[in-house]
Amino acid sequence: MNHLAEHLAQGFSQTPKTLSSKYFYDATGSRLFQQIMGLPEYYPTRTELAIFQAQGAAIGRALAAGAGPGQPLAVVELGAGDGLKTKLLLRELLAQPVALTYVPVDISPSAIDELAASLRQELPSLPTEPLAAEYGAALTTLATRPGAKAVLFLGSNIGNFAPDERADFLRELARPLTPADRLLVGFDLRKDPRRIRAAYDDAQGVTAEFNFNLLRRLNAEAGANFELDAWQHFPDYDPSTGAMRSWLVSRRAQTVRLATLPGQAFEIAAWEAIQTESSFKFTLPQITELAAGAGLRVVEVFQDDAHDFADVVLAVAA
Ligand code: AVJ
Repeated sequence: MNHLAEHLAQGFSQTPKTLSSKYFYDATGSRLFQQIMGLPEYYPTRTELAIFQAQGAAIGRALAAGAGPGQPLAVVELGAGDGLKTKLLLRELLAQPVALTYVPVDISPSAIDELAASLRQELPSLPTEPLAAEYGAALTTLATRPGAKAVLFLGSNIGNFAPDERADFLRELARPLTPADRLLVGFDLRKDPRRIRAAYDDAQGVTAEFNFNLLRRLNAEAGANFELDAWQHFPDYDPSTGAMRSWLVSRRAQTVRLATLPGQAFEIAAWEAIQTESSFKFTLPQITELAAGAGLRVVEVFQDDAHDFADVVLAVAA
């Protein structure tokens, strides 16, 4: 059966109805996210880039600290995307006395192909083993590959997990790590709630298009009959929990059918909302607690001057 159709049936049986943000990233979705990263309202990418520009050398040292001189260091990145920020770190790591390999993992085959091509151009001396796969493939690489690892989980991708899934995932990620390994996790921090909300509700409507792309993709790949003009992009932020959520709200009552699920119909009430993404925002104490729960310790915290974003180096608690 069509995996997107199966996902829809599962998500639409919940209250509220949900669709997973991981399905945003087909070729069009990956391109729309690249556009989002350049928007004036979307501060996370440029803030994390600024942290790497200002403190990249120290971050590179912290990531390579566990690998001995001349020893292998595999940089495994979860959700590498276009790798724009990572290339900066890779240049710093190439200056370290280790035998570097880069293993970017991304759910979007088009994104991973473009990243591999750009690395051949820009960093031709760097051995690269790209993987078009979900995060699980990275876990397998971590468990089976010999030598020290630096695991990158940047851009506050960790914010997409619900709180219980987040703790479970970090525990799974930590399990195969040895004391020589390091984990670098990017966390978007709590800040003025209006700034956070605006980052997901840009004036040009690119984020709305990104959200609608999920429906476009279901129409194209699962034979769904979503009419895009019947839906509204609606982001909301809860400053008490740090939950930034994106919804698709139905402007009218409608029936959703999928050619790949004949005989089934999904009733949507007027102004019913489908949750499509969570992008949680964090506090530093929450990050320390999250790490401890996964058997990790905080080695070093790198932040921008305004403390909008944190890149946290973690290691097994020993
Ligand atoms: C790529 C998951 C980090 O949650 O901020 C951007 C995706 N969604 N605008 C985020 C996204 C809407 C982004 N991540």
